Amino acid sequence: MLAGKHILLGITGGIAAYKTPELIRLLKAAGAEVKVVCSPQALEFVTPLTLSVVSGNPVVHALYDPNSGEWINHVNLALWADLIVLAPFTVNSLSALVQGKTENAVLVATLCARCPVILVPAMDHDMWVHNTTQRNILQAKELGYHIIEPDYGSLASGLVGHGRMPEPEALVIHLTLFKKLKPWWLGKRFLVSSGGTREALDPVRFISNRSTGKMGVALAEAASVNGAHVTIIRTKGSKIPTLKGMECIEVETALEMQTAIQERAENYDVIGMAAAVADYRIANVNTQKIKKTSEGFPTFDWIENPDILKSLAFKKRNYLLLGFALESKQSLEQAKIKFEKKGVDVLALNTLDNSGAGFEVDTNKVTLITSDSTHELELKSKTEIALEILNFVATCTIKSR
Ligand code: C5P
Repeated sequence: MLAGKHILLGITGGIAAYKTPELIRLLKAAGAEVKVVCSPQALEFVTPLTLSVVSGNPVVHALYDPNSGEWINHVNLALWADLIVLAPFTVNSLSALVQGKTENAVLVATLCARCPVILVPAMDHDMWVHNTTQRNILQAKELGYHIIEPDYGSLASGLVGHGRMPEPEALVIHLTLFKKLKPWWLGKRFLVSSGGTREALDPVRFISNRSTGKMGVALAEAASVNGAHVTIIRTKGSKIPTLKGMECIEVETALEMQTAIQERAENYDVIGMAAAVADYRIANVNTQKIKKTSEGFPTFDWIENPDILKSLAFKKRNYLLLGFALESKQSLEQAKIKFEKKGVDVLALNTLDNSGAGFEVDTNKVTLITSDSTHELELKSKTEIALEILNFVATCTIKSR
């Protein structure tokens, strides 16, 4: 999704600059073309040689060439870009930017931008929470700059707090998903379940399914980058989001998932049930590890798990409900029956008929079903499918009960 994009990376003088060669490498691997502009202080942390080798382009770090006296055309550099990313962006550069100062090549190029500019502030915790910094951040937003908030974690000072630059993988996800959803999602509260539940047989074994949580995480990350407040309820062992900044709750069984969802459901605008919830659990879970004996196979009594989705659907509600279905035969016909039975507003059908769809792969083939329409989406990456589903959801309405 970043293929062919021109990204101008502006690096300023913070310790997190050491992460930028990896960021450039990942952006290039995603198909983007990257040019780099640096402040003189950035070069204390990372060398122009490293940056030019990984980006495949010369690195601009001055306003003119001191040897020849030739002026460097920062205007063209900014106009070349489809997106400008300033990472790491120091407290000093932030202050200079909001005042319109042009003291280095990064600021000059940024002031010439016609494309979106994303700031990735990185600093020590106390600098980040300082009123002056927060005022400058607010002002930067008012000026139309976009901000990727720093992560919480260990900082160069040895303190633990807010201020870490997100890891390169997380920044690439941000840039990939940036402004890809309808503005409808801005400020929406989104609850999504993800992964496959585990139902215990004994303290050691469980039964589960092949769900990895990739689709659930793709939905959560897409909504989060585009301004939604996201809670992901994910099962143990399933994919953990790369992006920070979402509320993340871990559960194991269908019953735990039901409790976690039901106690929160009313606080959300959209609920997406991407998790593969076990239909049955074992009634007589062994308290000790089941031993292999010569007296035959162990037997289990089964009980039906609650249908979480259905119980969320058939009531007066203010949230829009998105369900998922995986069918292995007569898919569309089965899915339409399921749509009615589950009472959802939108049902996303995956079929096992399509290679590259369903469990464990990075692509998916989905058909979206509503009460009056059926939309078949192309086979695409789970990230692209997540965006299409969420953009579709933005056009839907809640069934009145
Ligand atoms: O009935 P089936 O398992 O095919 O339905 C799939 C949809 O129902 C998914 O959205 C899944 O998260 C949800 N589900 C549920 N509770 C269950 C079983 C499935 O919420 N016990």
